[in-house]
Amino acid sequence: MRIQQEQKQAAALKAAEYIRDNMVLGLGTGSTAYYLIRRAGELVKAGMRLQAVATSRSSEKLAEEFGIPLADINEVSRVDLTIDGVDEIDPNFEAVKGGGGALTREKITAYYSEQVIWIMDHRKQVSRLGAFPLPVEVLPFGWHLLSEKIHGLGYAPILRVENGQTFRTDNGNYILDIHSPSPAGYRKLSDLLHSYPGVVETGYFPAVCSRIIVADSSEVLVIEN
Ligand code: A5P
Repeated sequence: MRIQQEQKQAAALKAAEYIRDNMVLGLGTGSTAYYLIRRAGELVKAGMRLQAVATSRSSEKLAEEFGIPLADINEVSRVDLTIDGVDEIDPNFEAVKGGGGALTREKITAYYSEQVIWIMDHRKQVSRLGAFPLPVEVLPFGWHLLSEKIHGLGYAPILRVENGQTFRTDNGNYILDIHSPSPAGYRKLSDLLHSYPGVVETGYFPAVCSRIIVADSSEVLVIEN
């Protein structure tokens, strides 16, 4: 566990080398992004001028804690670089995200960023997406009918629960975690889900990253997309 944390930190520190003065920086969400936000705070303390947009309330809180000036995403004209974690990524740089429930804000921020870097320990790399269930953010209104519909297609959606309560995203929505998504594959499944009313966003991320940074016990690799 400690080793995994060290790898996450090593990937985050490497990614921080791409942060430049005056950037609008997209802050990812999760345990790997934590180290990046902490490092960005150190850079600000050392005099770097940064403005950050956060992909979740939790990252917003961390940014405040580490003294990083925050901007509302609707008040910036650009996002220069977003650095975020992933739950699974395949050799084509297609990824599943949303283990922390921040997938919609993460996807919007990544999509409108000039550059995106995904950081991870090597366990996140897989030959084929599928072991990690696909998180899907859905409106609370009608979620059960939507879930039944997905079930009817042969999948097994599970309403996410946290601490005994239905999990709510920062947008006030629910998450359905979809297990056993074969044989269609995540891309097709995501496209299909987008055609259903009530689906806000899926955790399938096409290859929107500019590069990934992967740490294992011996090295930190930067792989360009
Ligand atoms: C948050 O919703 C997720 O997309 C995270 O980016 C992803 O779960 C990676 O998190 P860890 O860095 O904690 O593994």
